[in-house]
Amino acid sequence: MTDTTSQAGTGHAPRTVDPDPDFAAQAVAQAALYEEADTDRLGFWARQARELLTWDTDFTQTLDWSGAPFAKWFVGGRLNVAVNCVDRHVEAGDGDRVALHFEGEPGDTRTITYAELAADVRRAANALAALGVQAGDRVAIYLPMIPEAVVAMLACARLGAPHSVVFGGFSADALRSRIEDAEAKVVITCDGSYRRGKPTTLKPAVDAALAKGAPSVTNVLVVRRNGEAVDWTEGRDVWWHDAVGAAGEEHEAQAFDAEHPLYILYTSGTTGKPKGILHTSGGYLAQAAYTTKNVFDLRPERDVYWCTADVGWVTGHSYVVYGPLALGVTQVVYEGTPDTPDKDRWWSLVEKYGVTVLYTAPTAIRTCMKWGEEYPGRHDLSSLRVLGSVGEPINPEAWAWYRRVIGADRTPVVDTWWQTETGAMMISPLPGVTTLKPGSAQVPLPGVAAEVVDDAGEPLGHGQAGYLVLTEPWPSMLRGLWGDPQRYVDTYWSRFPGRYFAGDGAKRDEDGDIWLLGRVDDVMNVSGHRLSTAEIESALVSHPTVAEAAVVGATDETTGQAVVAFVILRGGAQEGPDTVRELREHVGQEIGPIAKPRSIMVVAELPKTRSGKIMRRLLRDVAENRATGDVTTLTDASVMDTIRAGMTRSE
Ligand code: WT7
Repeated sequence: MTDTTSQAGTGHAPRTVDPDPDFAAQAVAQAALYEEADTDRLGFWARQARELLTWDTDFTQTLDWSGAPFAKWFVGGRLNVAVNCVDRHVEAGDGDRVALHFEGEPGDTRTITYAELAADVRRAANALAALGVQAGDRVAIYLPMIPEAVVAMLACARLGAPHSVVFGGFSADALRSRIEDAEAKVVITCDGSYRRGKPTTLKPAVDAALAKGAPSVTNVLVVRRNGEAVDWTEGRDVWWHDAVGAAGEEHEAQAFDAEHPLYILYTSGTTGKPKGILHTSGGYLAQAAYTTKNVFDLRPERDVYWCTADVGWVTGHSYVVYGPLALGVTQVVYEGTPDTPDKDRWWSLVEKYGVTVLYTAPTAIRTCMKWGEEYPGRHDLSSLRVLGSVGEPINPEAWAWYRRVIGADRTPVVDTWWQTETGAMMISPLPGVTTLKPGSAQVPLPGVAAEVVDDAGEPLGHGQAGYLVLTEPWPSMLRGLWGDPQRYVDTYWSRFPGRYFAGDGAKRDEDGDIWLLGRVDDVMNVSGHRLSTAEIESALVSHPTVAEAAVVGATDETTGQAVVAFVILRGGAQEGPDTVRELREHVGQEIGPIAKPRSIMVVAELPKTRSGKIMRRLLRDVAENRATGDVTTLTDASVMDTIRAGMTRSE
């Protein structure tokens, strides 16, 4: 039954929700995990790593922190990540279990068992090896959510060739700079995909990226997905179906050191240059598997899991590919948008595949709230047992709606805090164990140590807002920034020496539960995606008409934050009717559609401090239609009045 009286925003959230006794009685996670990890943290991680993974050579030391902040986990251990994610399940007799239920946006489907996935990965590894890819070589992957994305990542892992997945929504320029930074040897892409019922293209962006630079690339492997015509560079471009189709199924996997690089994933920082976050093998896979199992209450023989994230983001790495596959779970992979052909597409998939665990982002939940309960109401969602949230704080109203409308007021909702850098979940309740609290990510997972501190790094009492820090190394922590070890030390380990600074504000409540309060640096969070103000500013000033630009993240009801830009045009440049549209397009071209500002205001001046720093706080006030805050440090306080009076706003 649809309850039309409680539409989006009007549902009241309970303060706490106790675990359901039946769920608790059968829960995968047990309260004893906290005790065990508190007593012997390293022993706890060693046990997880040995129980969850298959090692070719056992490790001799759990953590080597002697080179802090550069960590080595599971020292001396050797394993093959892809074998752990696929082959060993086949060897254990689970080859017939479905690994992927793929559903394309047009409705085409593919069912891929673990045995089939293992064969595909081995063939793809042979095909890559035939193109000269060896352990240590980098491979860029620019693909939509199709099974080949998973196969490509695992084939790289199998060869020990770190992949660098670039989100398909990034532009040719963004792709090129990432390929260049990692000096990738091969790029794996496809002709195109589908979005909102229409074919899209990806290959042209790769062609444009390689036309401008990226000399390290010797071959482009092209998956045929939607049949769109592609330009072809003879000698460089190779069809996936030719190369992988012709490759043999036999491939001997080599075991790699626990610290062998697994992947690089670029994410936005506070400067204009994206950071290449480096993750390695043993520790990363151990924590990905441990969190997937315990936070989602997963039993591979029972569950059908679905994480709606794209493999272009870290959530897709840890919770579509590595965590679930390491456990041998059956999962759904969906290519398209949630409203194609109608706004009930997700819920039809939950019903069709009997999804038991769903992991998505608050922005998606708020969008569904806006669309209304009628869409989930059309489907039987009774298979769902656990609901997860990630990417930004989930407001209590959205939490309550998620649990009530999607989870029939029965399922636990786990709000999981982590980052590209942390590699896996860090702060989250455990379903069946933790008394849930809507709006709070609550407690560090067993084995994880977090603290809320003030400016001076002193731990804060309950109720006081400060900075979130991680006080002990963890297995899936980033091992550095690709090609820039000093920036790694400076960015994460210098603000509070000896501790990892996450860049998030946080507070503990009277129960000691942690509430995340958003970024405290110049990083924005739009629909759970990380964007840098500096990166968008430099995209704007690269346009010939722009003299100066300032970008802020303004609160947005659906996307959490929205990009709002203020620009000063160059002397002589006139603001025409198309200026703003042109600038938005320009940002889309420089970075990608996700970075396009929601609004751009053309202004005559920007508010600056006496030292010349742009006062974003004041601009945020304007962007959010608030009275401007303290302007006493402005060089010229009248600037704000000028901005308010003269701004041209465009949505
Ligand atoms: C930033 C990391 C983690 C994968 C997706 C985003 C914010 C993430 C939560 C949460 C409050 C959250 C933080 C963090 N964030 N999850 N549950 N509650 N904030 O990964 O792009 O590396 O972004 O996302 O601000 O620092 P990312």
